[in-house]
Amino acid sequence: MRVENLTLEFPSRSRGASIVRAIDDVSIDIAEGEIIGLVGESGSGKTTLGKTLLGMYSASAGHIWYEGIDLATADARSLKPHRRDLQMVFQDPLSSFNPRFRIGDSMAVPLRLHHICRGKALEAEVGRLLERVGLSADHARRFPHELSGGQLQRVAIARVLGIGPKLIVADEAVSKLDVSIRAQILNLLKAINRDIGVSLVFITHDLSVARFLCNRIAVMYFGRIVELGSTESIFSDAMHPYTRRLLEARRANQPHDPADDVTGPVTASGSVDRFAGCNYRDRCSVRISRCDRERPGLEGPSNERRFACFNPRGHQEDPAPALAMAR
Ligand SMILES: Nc1ncnc2c1ncn2[C@@H]1O[C@H](COP(=O)(O)OP(=O)(O)OP(=O)(O)O)[C@@H](O)[C@H]1O
Ligand code: SF4
Ligand SMILES: [Mg+2]
Repeated sequence: MRVENLTLEFPSRSRGASIVRAIDDVSIDIAEGEIIGLVGESGSGKTTLGKTLLGMYSASAGHIWYEGIDLATADARSLKPHRRDLQMVFQDPLSSFNPRFRIGDSMAVPLRLHHICRGKALEAEVGRLLERVGLSADHARRFPHELSGGQLQRVAIARVLGIGPKLIVADEAVSKLDVSIRAQILNLLKAINRDIGVSLVFITHDLSVARFLCNRIAVMYFGRIVELGSTESIFSDAMHPYTRRLLEARRANQPHDPADDVTGPVTASGSVDRFAGCNYRDRCSVRISRCDRERPGLEGPSNERRFACFNPRGHQEDPAPALAMAR
């Protein structure tokens, strides 16, 4: 999948703001069989980007090239043959299931809908899928409230696997689970990725989880990807001040600073004009004068290692005279 200059604007829910630019000029390639982590604070646009990649939202601008068509502009008819390929696993497993349906019936719905199987073969396939995710075929007879959160998330993964996807967007898929169960689900996702080569876009605000699971990490801030690289390079050689701040908070084992959450409206007319200059400049301790005038593009030594910053690594190049004297 090749994403080019993708932008998505919503009408704002806040007074005084006309639009929310939830995705702002995002370009990224997603290779077959890779696991890419989307990290960033609340409101940075992770879920919106994930859903847009799957054709659940129409883009305001840009392209999502997949199997020769542009998902960003495709109509429902052109999207239909690709629906099976592109699937999502959500954060809250309980809300993904109809409480009145037995697990087996819930799992059967997409298998019938996509004409994958029916009758006796359907029952056997549900059992096989449940066993594939570490449950037993007997779980098909249970109701959602009879399963634990971890078991339900396994069922949600099994249901998606049955459709034979090529790309799964998993949105905070382990964040509601106990820490002990979390590792099991992450290992399951790793095994599935290895066995069937499905690509995963794994959305998380937890850098440790991303480090464990992902081959590459894209750091998002206010709708933009501000840094992109292999997991190793992000952890050993982060360039963007925002990435470095996230890593420092993680090292200090601090819960994230709510001040970092991107809760304010992104508006063309709002008090913080994020369309001029770098969108991180009001929080950046190493900004330089250029940051107020120009927007940094996502650039770097290679297509795979990019960052959007005029002062990578955050060197204090020109300390103000007053600061220099204070030292
Ligand atoms: N349907 C919508 N209508 C209007 N604004 C929306 C809509 N969906 C999301 N937004 C806004 O878009 C921005 C990005 O939201 P999004 O849910 O994608 O962030 P996120 O990174 O997934 O956050 P979280 O970590 O809290 O899940 C936010 O400002 C949010 O308020
Ligand atoms: S471009 Fe400037 S303001 Fe933006 S993160 Fe880099 S140094 Fe900070
Ligand atoms: Mg989200």
